[in-house]
Amino acid sequence: MTTLDTKLIEKYHRLGPRYFTYPSPRFWQKSEKEQSKFIKNDGGNLSVYIHIPFCESFCSYCGCNIKVTKDHSNEKKILKEIKSELLQYSNSLHGNTLGELYLGGGTPTFLSPENLKTLIGQIFDFFPKSSDFVGTIEVDPRVTTTGHLDVLKECGFSKLQIGVQDTDSKTLKSVNRFIEKDQLFRFMGEAHARFNHIGIDLIYGLPNQTLEGLAATANDLKTINADSVSVYPLAHVPWLKGQGGCETPNAIDKTILGAFLSNTLFENNYSELGMGHFSKNDGELFSLLKEGKLQKNIMGYTKAMTTATLGLGVGSISEYQGAYFQNDRVLEKYRHLLKNGKPLARSHILTPMDKEIKNAMGKIMCGNRIEFSDLKAIFNETPQDQISEIYRGFIEDKILTTVGEGYTITKLGRSFLKPLCLTLDGHL
Ligand SMILES: C[S@@+](CC[C@H](N)C(=O)[O-])C[C@H]1O[C@@H](n2cnc3c(N)ncnc32)[C@H](O)[C@@H]1O
Ligand code: SF4
Repeated sequence: MTTLDTKLIEKYHRLGPRYFTYPSPRFWQKSEKEQSKFIKNDGGNLSVYIHIPFCESFCSYCGCNIKVTKDHSNEKKILKEIKSELLQYSNSLHGNTLGELYLGGGTPTFLSPENLKTLIGQIFDFFPKSSDFVGTIEVDPRVTTTGHLDVLKECGFSKLQIGVQDTDSKTLKSVNRFIEKDQLFRFMGEAHARFNHIGIDLIYGLPNQTLEGLAATANDLKTINADSVSVYPLAHVPWLKGQGGCETPNAIDKTILGAFLSNTLFENNYSELGMGHFSKNDGELFSLLKEGKLQKNIMGYTKAMTTATLGLGVGSISEYQGAYFQNDRVLEKYRHLLKNGKPLARSHILTPMDKEIKNAMGKIMCGNRIEFSDLKAIFNETPQDQISEIYRGFIEDKILTTVGEGYTITKLGRSFLKPLCLTLDGHL
């Protein structure tokens, strides 16, 4: 079994992007090129991401693009806005199939079950579902009803990504996200009864989170019985500091909490896919990794074999072969721009070197490999012995082994994908 020791985590700890995109949005060069040059109605299989930013209450750690409101007139507005965005793509994308629909937020179940069904129906009317369609939704167990779950099942959704974060009542209360454990477990039962794949989100480094409290959460993982677990280190959000006298753990304590969660997951028969995402050893995602068929897009690890992502809604990112485009992240601006055309705020056309690096990072994240030929292309002016020196420590620490014409990432190495990707990042 793999075990992580905190010294190794500290040795390789680097601040840096989570590589949802390469390059990361802060390095995008605003491009004047038209989006329509990159999107094609060529019968390809697409992912569609829809961002629903609304939440009825605020969890004080939240770093997502959200709008807190109890005004449910926003539901009809969302339906209209998504339809209006879709119509703008009717010439360029009609003819493609839908391999994946991912509803994220905010809280997608802010919409009533009826409006959720209408929203999903709008996408299905536009793109025919492919035979291996994957529907995924992020859900908050406090506000998701069996009515929502029934609609999602009826629409062919197979995966729920449930925000658990922690199960310790003290921690949950200090971040304004309390849920009774009974209610959470009941919700898990309802979810398992309807869907093939249950994923959960956990965060370490939350205010008042202790090793003892996290041990209780770790124990609850058996009852929760998720197929996959995403473990996030608390990302800095300025409004958390000192709030209500809650202190977040310091960097060392945070490392210990993270290592504890990883090791608990290993003990409970999970393996790390990479970047804090874990799958059951006999789960579908881990089998796909072993077969070299695992995919990763902006939304995370997936089995959906798609060639592009169309992002709809405020702040959503679209990814085409060779380019990224992002809608405005500010709701009012997004709404204003949409009235006059596409609500785009920024974009990036990949350079030939960006493409090399993105491709090599894809092999690290989904393929367990770093190929010497890719390193040669990326470090084209650098002598071979200097390139080897970059990876020497990783080999000594058993993160990499030399196999054939490249390095293979070991099982332990799956916990160090970020430092490996950072060795290639040409923008840092
Ligand atoms: C976009 S949120 C939507 C989830 C849903 N609204 C819920 O609360 O269950 C997706 C996940 O991002 C993670 N997240 C949010 N803010 C974070 C932060 N500041 N640091 C680390 N992870 C965070 C949480 O684990 C959350 O479940
Ligand atoms: S964690 Fe989820 S429910 Fe809480 S504020 Fe963020 S998006 Fe909304």
